[in-house]
Amino acid sequence: MMRKLVIATSNQGKFNEFSQLISDFPIEIVPQPEGIKVIENGKNFKENARLKACTVANQTGCWALADDSGLSVAALQGAPGVHSARYAKTDLERINKIIHALEGISDRRACFTASLCLASPENKILIEVEGHCEGLITHVPRGTNGFGYDPIFQVNELGMTFAEMSMETKKVCGHRGKAFSIFQSRFREII
Ligand code: IMP
Repeated sequence: MMRKLVIATSNQGKFNEFSQLISDFPIEIVPQPEGIKVIENGKNFKENARLKACTVANQTGCWALADDSGLSVAALQGAPGVHSARYAKTDLERINKIIHALEGISDRRACFTASLCLASPENKILIEVEGHCEGLITHVPRGTNGFGYDPIFQVNELGMTFAEMSMETKKVCGHRGKAFSIFQSRFREII
């Protein structure tokens, strides 16, 4: 019988993205059942990804794959970091809050991180990987693609914001794409 893998997210977009990335593997991909609540109180992305993967694996009796991601701004001592999704009410308000916080500050360095964790029902951590993307916070938003903080994050190698890139380019140089590519090769080894 094929092994089941639960994607530990209630976000349909993330579920689709994950499912597509691991569709080549001999595994049955299933969504997270409704009603599972995870308290994301880890102090970093890795801890939160672990909390999500372990809670869902334990409650479903299947392997579970989770991710946690966010933006860390150097001059803001790493904020918004693990609070990226809750930094303000809307994407626009979150973007404005960062631009405002960096007014008059020349150090614009920032980094996106994506942590992925695969856990077993016995809460064994099977795979744990992290992808990073280094860049600068722009003075004004640029571009219309993507989501979240994409319009104000300019990637160092390309000089473009995530929102100015195609999805394919973002996949190659972005934090999530990098984490996925390490994950896929490790997953191939254990499956
Ligand atoms: P998570 O769903 O708990 O991992 O929250 C991640 C939050 O970080 C999102 O709601 C966004 O605000 C931000 N974020 C993560 N990855 C990206 C990205 O690729 N572009 C823009 N914002 C991102």
